[in-house]
Amino acid sequence: MKEYHIDKIFKSRWEKKMLDWYSINKRDLPWRRRENKNFYRIWISEIMLQQTQVAVVIPYYNRFMLKWPTLEDFYNAKLEEILFLWQGMGYYKRAENLYKAKELLKKKTITINYQSLLEIPGIGDYTSSAISAILNDEKCPVVDGNIKRILTRVFKLNNDDKLYDKNIKYISTYLTPNRKNGNYCQSLMDLANSVCKVRNPDCKICPVEDFCLSKGLKLIQNKGKKTKNKIAVAFVVSYKKYYLIEKNSKKLLKNLFCFPLSDSKDIDKNFIESEFLHKTVNDWLKKKKIKVTYKLVGKVIHKFSHFQLKVLVVKLNLTCKLLLENFFWLTIKDLNSKPVSKLMLKIKEIV
Ligand code: ADE
Repeated sequence: MKEYHIDKIFKSRWEKKMLDWYSINKRDLPWRRRENKNFYRIWISEIMLQQTQVAVVIPYYNRFMLKWPTLEDFYNAKLEEILFLWQGMGYYKRAENLYKAKELLKKKTITINYQSLLEIPGIGDYTSSAISAILNDEKCPVVDGNIKRILTRVFKLNNDDKLYDKNIKYISTYLTPNRKNGNYCQSLMDLANSVCKVRNPDCKICPVEDFCLSKGLKLIQNKGKKTKNKIAVAFVVSYKKYYLIEKNSKKLLKNLFCFPLSDSKDIDKNFIESEFLHKTVNDWLKKKKIKVTYKLVGKVIHKFSHFQLKVLVVKLNLTCKLLLENFFWLTIKDLNSKPVSKLMLKIKEIV
């Protein structure tokens, strides 16, 4: 079997191939424009790109920069405004962290380097190295899932191997160039996106095909875990044109406005949906001391990162406006100006 000894010659040939390829093939992305090359604008882009694809991020990024062109403008942002701009992009914790981060940056000057940026809420190992490399060419290895895929293929690593993470760390550190690390890491990002894709890698156009021990062979990969299925009930409670709305305090959708949602339950093989619905609605009504009949009006399926949630949507019409702690009565028009999640938008469509 062919095996590589990663040495200086390998490193310099690899680096040159990647940088030459990037100079011709780099994507024209808003945060790569010269006028956007400052800490604030790169930071926001990297936070958005943490869990969201480039094509989805671009319009959000552009709207963000129109609303808050500089860090000083962003200092005045309210959490609700950030969430409103973020709605539909998911992983709302990122918006909350941006809020906390800018509150910190108001008070404290932070130097832009890998170690210091880690102090900022929402910035972890990957984001800190990406920002430091892109802005200052700092020599820190930048490795996300996509870059891992390239290295896994090139060096034919087995991600079931207990040394896998250690090997990735060693290889990526060794190959990180002394100069131009910003372009280098972005060359890997672009290669992963347009050539070394998850399915059907396009090896024929790959600039580092000669270096690759896999050449399009399937990745040696452990089997993906089956996604968990969960279920919950959403309560659409109305009085005239008003709806009972809660500001979510649960982790996933924290601070977003939503129709009250029950706790979720795993769907296992003994699960009976009608029983779950009946029990969940009755428990909720009892807790809220409401006596009213309910009607199942629809079902919505929504994917979160690590599970799929089925939501049974029930409607209840009240004859008076109950005052419940931590709830608001809002019209659909009011709700349109509040930050809500994609799941809530789907439920709103049914209502
Ligand atoms: N994914 C994460 N950061 C990125 C960047 N700067 N350019 C393209 N894709 C990315």
